[in-house]
Amino acid sequence: MSAEWLKDRVFYNIYPQSFYDSNGDGIGDLQGIIYKLDYIKEMGFSGIWINPIYESPFGDAGYDVTDFYKVAPRYGTNEDFERLAKECKKRDIKIILDLVAGHTSTECEWFKKSSEFEKNEYSNRYIWTNSVWDSGSGYGGFIGGASERDGCYMKNFFYFQPALNYGFKNIEKDWQLPMDHPDCLKTRDELIKIMKYWCGLGADGFRVDMAASLIKNDPEKVGIKELWRYVKSELKKEYPQAILVSEWSYPKDAIASGFDVDFIIHFHLKAYNTLFRYEKGMNPSDEWIGNSYFRSAGKGDIDEFLDEYLEHYNATKNDGYISIPSGNHDLPRISKGRDFDDLKVAFAFLLTMPGIPFIYYGDEIGMKYIENLPSKEGGYNRTGSRTPMQWDSTKNKGFSIADETYLPVDNSIDATTVREQLEDNNSLLNTVRNLIEIRKKNDALWADGGFEVIKKGYPFVYKRTGKASSIIIAVNPSDNEAKVDLPTVCAVLAEKNVEREGSGIKFNKQSYIVYETTKF
Ligand code: NOJ
Repeated sequence: MSAEWLKDRVFYNIYPQSFYDSNGDGIGDLQGIIYKLDYIKEMGFSGIWINPIYESPFGDAGYDVTDFYKVAPRYGTNEDFERLAKECKKRDIKIILDLVAGHTSTECEWFKKSSEFEKNEYSNRYIWTNSVWDSGSGYGGFIGGASERDGCYMKNFFYFQPALNYGFKNIEKDWQLPMDHPDCLKTRDELIKIMKYWCGLGADGFRVDMAASLIKNDPEKVGIKELWRYVKSELKKEYPQAILVSEWSYPKDAIASGFDVDFIIHFHLKAYNTLFRYEKGMNPSDEWIGNSYFRSAGKGDIDEFLDEYLEHYNATKNDGYISIPSGNHDLPRISKGRDFDDLKVAFAFLLTMPGIPFIYYGDEIGMKYIENLPSKEGGYNRTGSRTPMQWDSTKNKGFSIADETYLPVDNSIDATTVREQLEDNNSLLNTVRNLIEIRKKNDALWADGGFEVIKKGYPFVYKRTGKASSIIIAVNPSDNEAKVDLPTVCAVLAEKNVEREGSGIKFNKQSYIVYETTKF
């Protein structure tokens, strides 16, 4: 089972370049995060996940690493990271880093060596075919013509992100190496070394990028499970409290691989999309949010979420956790197509479900998804979710004193700020803060508290059970009213737009209630 410390935590996901610029160069940095730790703490967040901070040419926002052992100068130094970790520790905030396990940048020295004509210790660090005329067809995307070495290299994402070689599970071509090939084991051992290095400087764990994809030609996911179980056991020998969070979006496989937490997001499963960005009949990878459950139109179907969620929850609940994040740097912001009332109901759900909540910076104030921005650092349509944090009404919304920021700040007339919402008891920020506090105080709402569905449709009602109490949560994202009989109300912990009527509760539009009921 996972580290005990994880259970009652709520994480905050920080996109470092957009959080707070401490030195006036127009881009966020580690010292900026240190300055804002008191805000993070006051909100009740007890963990942070920071997107990649390693040295990089930033073709893909830092997911194209050149040196895994060095903080990118624009963010500061390794010493700054150590200070950040210490400051987090003082405040009991856990810190997890983004581990880009599957690829590097083509600018990485390892890749440059791997591209050389003469064989060397890095020749097999990446996946290459034997001839530039063999494009690896059937095994993913390959790039040819870029090296003096004969062959095409496999890309993991963009063309400048060559896939590291952890081996193939099923070998079908002579250029494919088995997982236990000494050179593949070297790649694996280097990854473990990187993880230990950052834990040594104070990291408490990692969010692993594209965690499912390291072993190639592994349709049954046998090889990848073996790899991660090994990596985790090695890491735990030195850092028994470290945790691993996966970008996998298939908890049954991720938790069985040794991950403590798996995100369900926009791929593999429909579950996330059905909640926030899905229109019936659409392909899960499509963009829009028409009939998602958390929409005031009230046309969503919670069953579509529950069918998958319960299957994965029941299969994994004794071994690890599912996270339903409010968003991340790859998704349109949760505020897209929703107003503050919609968002409050969505947060009542996100902060009372089992598992570990992760809130993307700025979602706590309903920052907007900015449409049609030119792509920055490989963001493309993701760029609109990555704009600078809006702290107050000073220059650049308090993000930076620079004349030009690396991405435009939302300066529209209705652009909200932290400062403004701190002063309004009824703001989204204060609603989120209050819900986090309730979660923290009630073990029923922790990651491993029991979960039982009481009623589907609108409102969606469920019960969470802990050692000390049982809590009912009912959320009605819809514009339609509904009256329902629910289990006995002992003490109301939070509510919005509901009325008690005899034995029932009337749910007005966009409403929710969180209350304690009798234990048995
Ligand atoms: C997933 C990351 O979240 C995304 O931002 C990145 O572009 C790809 N992996 C490639 O590393």
